[in-house]
Amino acid sequence: MIMKKQRILFIGAGRMAEAVAAGLLHTSRSKIDEVIMSNNGNKQRLEYLVNQYEVRTTHNWRDEVTNSDVVVLAMPPEAHEEILSELSSYLTDQFIVTIAAGIGPAYLEQRLPDNTPVAWIMPNTAATIGESMSLFTLGKATTEEHRKVLEMILKGIGKSQECTEREVHQLTAITGSAPAFLYHFAEALIEATTAYGIDEQTAKQLVIQMMYGSVQMLNDKQNPGELREQVTTPGGATAEGLKVMAEHNFVDMMKKAVEATNAKAMGVK
Ligand SMILES: NC(=O)c1ccc[n+]([C@@H]2O[C@H](COP(=O)([O-])OP(=O)(O)OC[C@H]3O[C@@H](n4cnc5c(N)ncnc54)[C@H](OP(=O)(O)O)[C@@H]3O)[C@@H](O)[C@H]2O)c1
Repeated sequence: MIMKKQRILFIGAGRMAEAVAAGLLHTSRSKIDEVIMSNNGNKQRLEYLVNQYEVRTTHNWRDEVTNSDVVVLAMPPEAHEEILSELSSYLTDQFIVTIAAGIGPAYLEQRLPDNTPVAWIMPNTAATIGESMSLFTLGKATTEEHRKVLEMILKGIGKSQECTEREVHQLTAITGSAPAFLYHFAEALIEATTAYGIDEQTAKQLVIQMMYGSVQMLNDKQNPGELREQVTTPGGATAEGLKVMAEHNFVDMMKKAVEATNAKAMGVK
């Protein structure tokens, strides 16, 4: 069955909405009828989006729901309760997709009319360069057609993995938030580099290329433990550095950071 051209309405027009809309238009323009973007009143932002992409904007998303096939909820998690309550009265058979942290299909289904097709995408900021590792899960009332539409949306922002709702909650910290952990790791190494009197620009270049090369190696070999061992001569200098990391419970610290992130994500709404 050929998929109908989709009219996609975004409620929320921030960084993540821009990434999803840009990716979608880039990879699937022929399958899109129109992309409409709305926000909470920031006019300059909507002007920027119209100038930058092939989108239409509106100050009132309520006028656009009936004519849309998909509504992407790209506003903060805490805005969902109010928007869902209002959105409910406009829905006919629209597919509702949220990208908000902590807002799974169960949350949406509870607040929307019976049998509303819903889905949850958990992207990360690499969506802006088409390199997100996104998680997704579909609600109870979705069909194969909805899955195809969701796959089209996901394709524009990188790679994706279907999970259960519970898994998306558990893995949000890993794919959604851990990029911040990695950037923090880079910040720490840059600080350690400048402590030796190296200028910041050079320090950044050294650390970023080191990380880039390491990620390429990881991608190639898929075995972080083996790669670590290749760098670590027993009793050598790198082993001393890793010993300090172990003494400071690096692995345990990462687990705690993941747990704290997930606990917060589940408690925000
Ligand atoms: N950034 C990430 O790495 C990331 C990763 C995964 C998921 N997410 C999720 O993506 C969503 C958006 O994040 P973001 O980083 O794109 O945030 P953002 O750049 O701050 O954008 C938030 C957008 O929501 C709009 N908004 C806020 N309250 C609203 C309301 N009541 N009605 C309509 N629009 C409203 C804002 O409009 P105004 O500008 O007019 O206020 C803005 O366009 C969040 O739910 C977040 O959990 C983000």
